[in-house]
Amino acid sequence: MPTRTFRIAVIPGDGIGKEVVPEGLRMLDALVQRSSGSLAFETEPFPWGSGHYLETGRMMDDDGLARLAEFDAIYFGAVGWPTVPDHVSLWGLRLAICQGFDQYACVRPVQLLPGITSPLRNVTEETMDWVVVRENSEGEYAGIGGRNLAGRGQGTEIATQTALFTEHGCERIIRYAFELARTRTRRKVTSVTKDNAQQFAMTLWNDVFARVAAEYPDIETETWLVDAMAARFVLHPDTLDVVVASNLFGDILSDLGSALAGSMGIAASANIDPERRKPSMFEPVHGSAPDIAGEGIANPIAAIWTVALMLDHLGLEEEAAAVMAAIRATTAGGTLTPDLGGTATTREVGDAVLANL
Ligand code: NAI
Ligand code: MG
Repeated sequence: MPTRTFRIAVIPGDGIGKEVVPEGLRMLDALVQRSSGSLAFETEPFPWGSGHYLETGRMMDDDGLARLAEFDAIYFGAVGWPTVPDHVSLWGLRLAICQGFDQYACVRPVQLLPGITSPLRNVTEETMDWVVVRENSEGEYAGIGGRNLAGRGQGTEIATQTALFTEHGCERIIRYAFELARTRTRRKVTSVTKDNAQQFAMTLWNDVFARVAAEYPDIETETWLVDAMAARFVLHPDTLDVVVASNLFGDILSDLGSALAGSMGIAASANIDPERRKPSMFEPVHGSAPDIAGEGIANPIAAIWTVALMLDHLGLEEEAAAVMAAIRATTAGGTLTPDLGGTATTREVGDAVLANL
């Protein structure tokens, strides 16, 4: 069998990003070994992040996007450190890549793994299984606005932060959600807005949702307000399947979902360009966790699950399923880091997933 080779740019970033990404890379090595020569990954590490910023004044090099464009995928850890303002680190690296490559679909599965206790009573692996599809290119994170008028004297400064919703942007993320729903058993899309308070942007979103939904008569649809949806995540998680939301709402709801599934330490995410014009980027939902960085106790499962999402995107479905099965066997077997109530280290969990693979 000819060797299929994939080029992966690796950006561990800051804090626990540097601890969990190596565990994901060990899975790629193991998959290569078990492929008997039919699969290869060429990984290239990039030292970008807050440390790089403090040395050079830049979160990533000026030609960063041009260099990343040559890869098949980007595997990212987390960015952010107390010595650099968060808006500098986020906009300088993660958002620069997501927006620079127009990775407009952020996909975040919420799934209870065996052996993990959800803070919710009465949920099972069958009833807690949904996906947040977050618009990832515009909305509340369009970066439009400014601060001014401080010169009028103390206490007079103003700020505007404008949300941008385009018909094109709404349509492509909503369509992505419907296509994803077609691959799932429940086949339902729930649109989340705040259309009662945000009467311009969110009614545009609603109109596009209704138009796209008409093309998918086989998919059940719902529209919900984001505040009510936060409550529904907690009270009726069994009724959810594909949840599509704007950039801000999807960001918040997916963290809630991660917590309900047991920990931020297991939640994976993909920033996808469905049209495959440029590489997509795969990263755990969590940040750099300065509170536990350096202790070797960060949960690597989010980063390893993220590898499974990347493999899926690269067309390596069998390998992705094998990684997910190894994760499930590991949590079921009780090898857990402290965030899940265990005593295992990052490396020990990585070892267990490898052994199960
Ligand atoms: P965080 O996700 O880094 O941490 C939140 C809490 O969850 C902390 O108590 C942390 O210890 C825990 N946690 C997170 N991941 C964990 C893991 N794998 N294993 C065990 N426990 C884990 O969010 P926080 O504290 O709000 O932000 C810290 C920094 O990360 C900030 O600079 C922030 O801007 C950045 N950040 C970056 C993101 C990214 O790169 N995509 C996403 C979120 C935050
Ligand atoms: Mg977030």
